[in-house]
Amino acid sequence: MTEAKEAILLVGGKGTRLRPLTVHTPKPMVPAAGVPFLTHQLARARAAGVEHIVLATSYLAEVFEPHFGDGSSLGLHIEYVTEQEPLGTGGAIRNVAPKLSSGPDEPVLIFNGDILTGLDIRALVTSHTVSGADVSLHLTRVEDPRAFGLVPTDGTGRVTAFLEKPQTPEEIVTDQINAGAYIFRRSVIDTIPAGRPVSVERETFPGLLASGAHLQGMVDSTYWLDLGTPAAFVRGSADLVLGRAPSPAVPGRCGDRLVLPTASVAPDAKLTGGTVVGAGAVIGAGARVDGSTILENAIVEPNAVVTDSLVGAGARIGSRTVLAGAVIGDGARVGADNELRDGIRIWCGSTLPDASVRFSSDQ
Ligand code: GDD
Ligand code: MG
Repeated sequence: MTEAKEAILLVGGKGTRLRPLTVHTPKPMVPAAGVPFLTHQLARARAAGVEHIVLATSYLAEVFEPHFGDGSSLGLHIEYVTEQEPLGTGGAIRNVAPKLSSGPDEPVLIFNGDILTGLDIRALVTSHTVSGADVSLHLTRVEDPRAFGLVPTDGTGRVTAFLEKPQTPEEIVTDQINAGAYIFRRSVIDTIPAGRPVSVERETFPGLLASGAHLQGMVDSTYWLDLGTPAAFVRGSADLVLGRAPSPAVPGRCGDRLVLPTASVAPDAKLTGGTVVGAGAVIGAGARVDGSTILENAIVEPNAVVTDSLVGAGARIGSRTVLAGAVIGDGARVGADNELRDGIRIWCGSTLPDASVRFSSDQ
């Protein structure tokens, strides 16, 4: 079998808000390339043959269902399960098991909700079937693995250990990390204890290895990005628009820019590097916007220069202001002639007067 018909998408826990971008929208629903980020993952799973997806949610769960409904607009059957208290990754998986209809030996796709990836889901299922593993994990290589789960494998790809967020240099035994997508044999899900928090990374995987279970790793070098920071989110959105990150859900053709209907862009404004301009947003004359996400109804005034930045919904960027690697919260007002750089975050709704911040000398 080369297809998983069912999937569990993990979109709960504590870290799912992209603060200070917006107070009320959890990160999976912030638009990336013009649609809520989660849409890309759902559409990719659908394209790989998945028909039924259970969203395991805890935090601000009520925003998902009104948007995605029963999933039919994506050709999917989507169900929602909300935890009273966050159950952790493993607890969330176990908690939704009653919604699955797969047989005990059938493959179930499970994936983290904050990853943008070009993973060939069918190839992971095929590798799972061929190796006969209990669980198969997508692995990727990163330069600094400390913020991830380390997954060393033997010569045949069989997982030999799982080390979540290694603390000491001795623990850094590989640059292969858990990329946040798994195929579980259905019956393995039922072995996770129910009714209490469980971390799949810290408890389930090490426990399975200790009991002699077969965990198989599939390393590949496809596009992969953890959207844990606003900067990564902006990068991911631009890569979707540029076509570097493949998604059937990008609304329009891939290219240098994506301008959503009802946005207004001055004829001499320059939009490059995968910039997205959201519905109702306005880009003024002479403005230059590169590799950035401008959310709905934001205003970029004439001759502003915006690079690798995120401008929240309804925010206003004054004339000649320079943003580079900045995050401007929803509804914030940045006056004219400011210069904001290097990860600065302007909180939602706040106001920065004209000419109040610069990094370089006045000319
Ligand atoms: N439903 C539910 N309940 N989902 C949860 C919970 C929970 O209690 N806790 C976390 N999640 C979801 C998150 O929304 C996210 O989509 C996914 O599970 C992973 O949780 P994170 O909190 O984002 O973990 P991480 O980024 O520190 O590490 C994980 O991802 C790395 C790859 O980006 C681990 O799986 C690492 O091993 C992995 O390398
Ligand atoms: Mg994460």
